[in-house]
Amino acid sequence: MQNQSEIITTAGAEMAKIIYGTAWKKERTAELVIQAVKVGFRGIDTACQPKHYAEPLVGAALMALKSSGIKREELFIQTKFTPLSGQDQNTVPYDKNASLPMQVAQSFETSKTNLNTKYIDSFLLHSPLSPFSDLLSVWRAMETIHKRGEALRLGISNCYDLEVLQHLYNEADIKPSIVQNRFYRDSGYDATLREWCATHNIVYQSFWSLTANPHILESKELIALAMKYRKCEAQIFFAYLISQGIVPLSGTTSLEHMLQDLEATSLTLTPDEISGISSLLLSDKL
Ligand SMILES: NC(=O)c1ccc[n+]([C@@H]2O[C@H](COP(=O)([O-])OP(=O)(O)OC[C@H]3O[C@@H](n4cnc5c(N)ncnc54)[C@H](OP(=O)(O)O)[C@@H]3O)[C@@H](O)[C@H]2O)c1
Repeated sequence: MQNQSEIITTAGAEMAKIIYGTAWKKERTAELVIQAVKVGFRGIDTACQPKHYAEPLVGAALMALKSSGIKREELFIQTKFTPLSGQDQNTVPYDKNASLPMQVAQSFETSKTNLNTKYIDSFLLHSPLSPFSDLLSVWRAMETIHKRGEALRLGISNCYDLEVLQHLYNEADIKPSIVQNRFYRDSGYDATLREWCATHNIVYQSFWSLTANPHILESKELIALAMKYRKCEAQIFFAYLISQGIVPLSGTTSLEHMLQDLEATSLTLTPDEISGISSLLLSDKL
């Protein structure tokens, strides 16, 4: 098992350097979460969104891990409130006719029950709502939960519009401290947004880091670095992301890849190698 050096402190937040993602695992969710934590993952990402996540099975895994001596406090558990538009209308985990603040409150209670926990380390809004007044009304409900001490950090996902993030930041009583976004070329890899996050103590988490970037993973530069360090290209890319202050998610279902992804957290690239990969991201030649 890896030790606590897996945990970094950013913006006063303790967070694993890489987070295990539980989407699309279905009935294998519990088994895979147990395996991921046993081999060293300390961050777990889920959502109260039955369409894509089996949150109760994440909770079952946490119970099993507790029985084998891994305490709740050792883990960074993140879940999300998913607005109605992101839910399968047949499995909405709250009263869809309730007000937005009530939907948030019900979703959060369901998550706590599903996860067998009294508190959540990070509670994210799964995607921005429009108009902004709806977003703010959801955020206020999230703030109420935070102020009760039940959600230690608040954040937002799928927020690619910096103006929306800035508007939220300015209006928020409890500022967002996490942004979780797809890391892909179409958004320019959120370069401007990430820069702004870094100056506002917001941790940027990436998903689709591997799946959206085969052109990077297959580039001659990544292949050469993989050979140099005797690692795979995925590890080089994860190490690069971590060097940028990004906390990547990995949703691997393979033990070998779990070990590789964890090992990437202790791989240090040289400044030249890092800037070489940064240039690759900006290049439109690949
Ligand atoms: N907020 C959102 O809207 C949102 C959206 C999507 C995802 N997420 C979160 O992000 C998590 C991760 O999702 P993701 O979309 O980034 O993709 P992912 O589920 O991590 O899939 C990445 C792919 O990379 C492979 N992989 C992982 N490690 C590898 C390695 N070392 N070498 C080679 N291949 C490797 C996996 O295959 P193997 O299984 O064979 O290893 C998988 O096919 C999700 O589980 C979820 O928690 C959030």
